[in-house]
Amino acid sequence: MIVYLNGEFLPLAEARVSVLDRGFLFGDGVYEVIPVYAGRLFRLQEHLHRLENSLKGIKLQNPLMEKQWVKILESIVSRNNGGDQAIYLQITRGPAKRDHNFPENIVPTVFVMTDPITVLPPSNGVKAITRVDTRWQHCDIKSISLLANILLRRQAIETGGVETILIRDGNAMEGAASNIFIVEKGIAITPPKSQFILPGITRDLILEAMQSAEMPCQEATISENQLRSADEIWITSSTREILPVIRLDDKVVGKGKPGQIWSQVLHIYQTYKQTLYG
Ligand code: PDD
Repeated sequence: MIVYLNGEFLPLAEARVSVLDRGFLFGDGVYEVIPVYAGRLFRLQEHLHRLENSLKGIKLQNPLMEKQWVKILESIVSRNNGGDQAIYLQITRGPAKRDHNFPENIVPTVFVMTDPITVLPPSNGVKAITRVDTRWQHCDIKSISLLANILLRRQAIETGGVETILIRDGNAMEGAASNIFIVEKGIAITPPKSQFILPGITRDLILEAMQSAEMPCQEATISENQLRSADEIWITSSTREILPVIRLDDKVVGKGKPGQIWSQVLHIYQTYKQTLYG
């Protein structure tokens, strides 16, 4: 695999960063995951826009212009043979003497790698659990400090599930690494954007696609009770697309199989993706 690190393209095994990097010492950085289909970066502008907001959120100036980002990302895609990939990019505040207070003139570390993305087979549905959202108050920043998320996700894995849906003040917010939708009385509902959820690119695309197909959908608070009595629950992300949840904790969701609206929305999503393959 060819990666990008601070101005250079090089094999992964040769990429080195300082142990004083604030990403390593403090988790002081932000990231993006961008899917690539047929060699094309999917929703690139939206990902770069969110990256800009994350950087603002941690008071770090974007070290690259948009044009430079596009060039680097396209180059990583082609140097790794195009096709379907998931690009991971990370910017940390860079190496400096360890101090909670960050110095002003420090050079950020910019790293880009890629992973193969497997086109998911049609899902039979997955299990999710619920837990209290133990994360901080800036979940709209795509921070590399993910300790709470990984511990919460781990609890799902340990109980045979794939995702943990997070409850804050009696409301369902999102998954440990995904957004959520429920279907209630035929209407798809997803929580409104706020500091408590990551503004998911997949989430926005689903809303956009449903609106243009004139399918009922809305952004509204989802109470824990609504989540538990929903006819359908979906989790959405760039790498998992739209997954139907058929068991939540120890209860069946809806009819215990992927719902009809999920299947329609997945179809629209896949058709949209297919346009990239040309
Ligand atoms: N995570 N919420 C959280 C907390 C996430 O970590 C993610 C994605 C999402 C979905 O966002 P998007 O649709 O833009 O992928 C929501 C990525 C995939 C990750 O951390 O690997």
